[in-house]
Amino acid sequence: MCGIVGAVSTRNIVPILIEGLKRLEYRGYDSCGVAVHQAGQLRRARSTSRVAELDAQVREERVEGATGIAHTRWATHGAPAVHNAHPHFSGGPGAGAQGRIALVHNGIIENHDELRAELKAKGYAFTSQTDTEVIAHLVDHHYDGDLFEAVQRAAPQLKGAYAIAVFCRDEPHRVVGAREGSPLVMGVGKGENFLASDAMALAGVTDQIVYLEEGDVVDLQLGKHWIVARGADGNFKRVQREVRTVQAHSGAADLGPYRHYMQKEIFEQPRAIADTLDGVGGIDASLFGDGAAKLLDGVDRVLILACGTSYYAGSTARYWLEAIAGLPTTVEIASEYRYRESVADPRTLVVTISQSGETADTIAALKHARALGMERTLTICNVATSAMVRECKLAFITRAGVEIGVASTKAFTTQLVALFLLTLVLAKLRGKLPPKGEQAALRNLRHLPAAVQSVLALEPQIIGWAEAFVPRQHALFLGRGRHYPVALEGALKLKEISYIHAEAYPAGELKHGPLALVDAEMPVVTVAPADDLIEKLKSNMQEVRARGGQLYVFADADTRIESSTGIHVIRLPEHYGALSPILHVVPLQLLAYHTAVARGTDVDKPRNLAKSVTVE
Ligand code: M6R
Repeated sequence: MCGIVGAVSTRNIVPILIEGLKRLEYRGYDSCGVAVHQAGQLRRARSTSRVAELDAQVREERVEGATGIAHTRWATHGAPAVHNAHPHFSGGPGAGAQGRIALVHNGIIENHDELRAELKAKGYAFTSQTDTEVIAHLVDHHYDGDLFEAVQRAAPQLKGAYAIAVFCRDEPHRVVGAREGSPLVMGVGKGENFLASDAMALAGVTDQIVYLEEGDVVDLQLGKHWIVARGADGNFKRVQREVRTVQAHSGAADLGPYRHYMQKEIFEQPRAIADTLDGVGGIDASLFGDGAAKLLDGVDRVLILACGTSYYAGSTARYWLEAIAGLPTTVEIASEYRYRESVADPRTLVVTISQSGETADTIAALKHARALGMERTLTICNVATSAMVRECKLAFITRAGVEIGVASTKAFTTQLVALFLLTLVLAKLRGKLPPKGEQAALRNLRHLPAAVQSVLALEPQIIGWAEAFVPRQHALFLGRGRHYPVALEGALKLKEISYIHAEAYPAGELKHGPLALVDAEMPVVTVAPADDLIEKLKSNMQEVRARGGQLYVFADADTRIESSTGIHVIRLPEHYGALSPILHVVPLQLLAYHTAVARGTDVDKPRNLAKSVTVE
């Protein structure tokens, strides 16, 4: 999604800005741009191609400067086009032909129509359809020689979410940033300062990071900076923010022998699970942070908030939390929960799940839960430095490693591992986990990497199946019980990277409607573990066969489901009890991946999608 990098220095910072954009590139974007202060003017280059093209463009056009900002844009307001790409320049009265203010923005300004009308009436001409250009003109409107002051006057007029970086033609050694609802960090260098939407963009430049807080406005100059925060009275006051040493990992990782990051990440799952379990000696609340035992004690229900794949991880965990820990559990899509009138219980444990830790809907849902008086908050997150981790009282950091493919894979399986650990901790605190059960669960967890490895060995058979999916327009996925969310996740994987329309149903629900869709053209992927619902599932499979549907079944060894006409079976090596969803999702990831490769789609960067969804 959108990314920001900014710098004020005495050297040419364009290579740093471009490198920063490259580090954010994997998140998904459709245009990019850079602007610098050069020869007393604003200079910019913008492109609807990749950052590599922008790099070539700035070299060719000799765009250079010691103060500048850069951006990757994921279109919300206005199509992906050069004139909508950031940075935007202010073009108002007194700005001159080249503009006076240059600005980049992440987020969405909800009152942009109203502000646009006001600014037009004041003589500002708009050259884009973006909400961002409104901010550039607004800052220009408030500018009377001090950019820091101008941003402080403009910020309270903005409704919605924003992180901005801005500089001015008339103040060559200054960049100002502001945030409200979207992340922004400052990097402190030696005699130079930086801004970025994620510390990762500054890896290799500085590890001295300040996480700006909601309502902060920061003034970056050569070797010095100031931060002000907007108080409840609306006035800005000077504040100090902690400078932290952050070893941010680079987004760019070696592909090794793999064709795509998604494939690499699928195959990294045994390692990712092992790393996530590293240091787990026993089932103890401290796995979730200092003070966890106290916070988790007396919890009488669980509310899980998440989006996309993380939501499906939460949906799987609901089965564990209710069956093993005996805790009533609700799983809510974050973007729905935040706007729903719900009944709050202060003894609820609010669990957010997020790979990135920056998903705007999940953060907003968490804040909503807190505003309702639910203060026991825990996150399961893959990025230790993310907003989500900072916002929650407790955290479990999954060790999946940087996930680059837009389609989440290793984040999902490591989230499930963390959620299973949480289930065991809560069960133990509630006296529902006898020592024997604890030992058995730990043994199963430790064997998981090897079990996942043996499922990965099914890849050649799955490649064979993928061919059959290539010409299809639709696919159905079936699962029951804790494997229903796995079916949902399989359908999401297939639709997001192969663009085949895919739906998942609890198999028992088929006869209540979706069966009408089944004919010889409809592949029906079935998740068939050897659990206590297997005989019911077999009956559902017969319902499909009776209508000519083609079944593609991932069956555990001891299900006695055999291949026959219209029934294709790939056998998983072993049944894994409660943890079976972690094994069963892997072949679904591989099926989606190989179908997408065979259809020739952009697997790692599927159309219209972004890795980290930082807008509502
Ligand atoms: O970073 P998060 O886990 O909060 O992201 C949530 C979803 O945006 C994400 O899982 C999305 O659905 C993926 N593209 C799924 O593969």
